[in-house]
Amino acid sequence: MIVLGIETSCDDTGVCLFHSEKGIISNVVSSQVKLHAEWGGVYPDLAAREHTRNIIPVLDRAVKEAKVKLSDIDAIAVTVAPGLIVSLVIGISSAKALSWSLKKPLIPVHHIEAHIFAIFIEQEVHFPFIALVVSGGHTELYIIRGFEDYLYLGGTLDDAAGEAYDKVARILGLGYPGGPIIDSLAKKGREVIKLPRPLLKDRGKNRFNFSFSGLKTAVMREAQKGIYRKEDIAHSFQEAVVDVLVGKTVDAVIEYGIKNVVVAGGVSANSRLRERFQEESQKTGFSVYFPPLYLCTDNGAMIAYTGYRRFKETGRTTGLDFEGKARLRLDRFVDYIRRGAGQ
Ligand code: KG4
Ligand code: ZN
Repeated sequence: MIVLGIETSCDDTGVCLFHSEKGIISNVVSSQVKLHAEWGGVYPDLAAREHTRNIIPVLDRAVKEAKVKLSDIDAIAVTVAPGLIVSLVIGISSAKALSWSLKKPLIPVHHIEAHIFAIFIEQEVHFPFIALVVSGGHTELYIIRGFEDYLYLGGTLDDAAGEAYDKVARILGLGYPGGPIIDSLAKKGREVIKLPRPLLKDRGKNRFNFSFSGLKTAVMREAQKGIYRKEDIAHSFQEAVVDVLVGKTVDAVIEYGIKNVVVAGGVSANSRLRERFQEESQKTGFSVYFPPLYLCTDNGAMIAYTGYRRFKETGRTTGLDFEGKARLRLDRFVDYIRRGAGQ
């Protein structure tokens, strides 16, 4: 079976062809990073315009690189939620047009679900596991008990972890996206400023929630003093973010007695986060899994694979009249498609 996956929820146009026996047979991502660098973040109207320009060339390249014909495709999977609505609708409309003209089923996929299940493209992980999803738009903790069996533990109350990286990079005048730049700059610095670890010690209703906007403000205050090197600010900031992300995930591991952890999304590419998770997994006694770097940031492969898995495990497809959703939590998305999204 060949599943075509389309991802346009933010600023990357991604198309992948996934073969049930051979795995990924093509995976094309057109990044808009250079375009958004000027704004220091994703500018929605610009993102939508670029998706409109790129979607067919990316699709064409993916089909050619896979050396298949459009008629060889058995199903089309597409990101339905969450994301920038102006970006989502371009992928959704293209997927609907393909599904309608090729007369092939359409499979709805949730962006966060796809980040999590990307891990299975190259390795096996046993259920249940804790999933920490950290990206430019999301910071969420789930227990994944099986496919479509998701328990939401918590998420960010304000900025996402990747958003905090991008904003701090802007404060320090480092460029966009800030995550990889801060990641490498921090290696040259030391923790000279003790920054807050927001909600880390919270044992109440926010014990699995996150908050990064206060941390960003604290960084801004310290940077304005003009006495610290950028390397040291970057290092101090990264230590605070990583402490919170690792600390809360380990708390969930202990509270629920779960032995496997999957870390996914753009920020899971972070070298310090990976290092600290490896250390903690040995100390606390759990296994930690990261997708390979090319599957951490947004891509069509995670959509195609998750769509394939949905089709194989549930046979679930959708009609052509469903809509994209800018905000829809993963556990609620499952209810939405079980009720028959758009059918
Ligand atoms: O998953 P993704 O491509 O898009 C969203 O769904 O948001 O994640 C992009 C985010 C950006 O905020 C970027 O700064 C961050 O991931 N990122 C990193 C690293 N690589 C990408 N953050 C920290 N360290 C990295 N090495
Ligand atoms: Zn993403």
